[in-house]
Amino acid sequence: MPLSLAVLVSGGGSNLQSLIDRIEQGVLDAEIKLVVSNKPEAYGLVRASEHGIPTRVVAHADHPSREAFDTEVLRAIEAHQAEAVILAGFMRILTPGFVQSFPRRLLNIHPALLPSFPGAHGQRDAADYGVRISGCTVHFVDEIMDHGPVIIQAAVPAEPGEGGDALAARILRLEHRIFPQAVQWLAEGRLGMEDRHVRLAPAKRPLADLSGLGPCLVNPPLEQGF
Ligand code: GAR
Repeated sequence: MPLSLAVLVSGGGSNLQSLIDRIEQGVLDAEIKLVVSNKPEAYGLVRASEHGIPTRVVAHADHPSREAFDTEVLRAIEAHQAEAVILAGFMRILTPGFVQSFPRRLLNIHPALLPSFPGAHGQRDAADYGVRISGCTVHFVDEIMDHGPVIIQAAVPAEPGEGGDALAARILRLEHRIFPQAVQWLAEGRLGMEDRHVRLAPAKRPLADLSGLGPCLVNPPLEQGF
């Protein structure tokens, strides 16, 4: 049985698209039951509709509190019977009650090497700081923003003065590789945990070809198809 997912977006949805593409290619063993956006204008909703995926807008402005917003999102997810929740550019902080509803079933992607540069502008903050290496992180979500156990990270060089947009574009290409891979590991039941250390159960599978991505380091390594 494929892992059934709800994907939460707030914007362009290119990470959502990377999940859809890998599912349609038959390498990601998952099914997206629902895409939820807190913004009616999010292009991620269009991407979902184009692939026949049900969508739902839960506008945060229409809800009096974070709890009320999260309850509405939770109801929508439960109605579509999604087992896991994937935050793909979802720019809202979730309440502890929501987080606890999906133990080890709630993943986020962040465009920086956590714990450096958490928050809404990871790429720009890293570029402004003048780091020489940045990247992206997929992690389990816990009650603290951008804090939960790390599943996979990818690093890329950052060049002086190139600005946040150029760095963001380089990072985004890797986001599209590591996010579907992390979801596949979740679908395969290969992600264990000791304290906050995520253990990936081994599988005898060839590794992915990273040529064409430019200089980068991905750990754990991507497997074929990702
Ligand atoms: C991605 O870069 C994602 O890592 C980031 O928002 C972008 C969404 O792009 N998420 C965060 O910054 C969360 N703190 P997308 O809508 O094209 O997938």
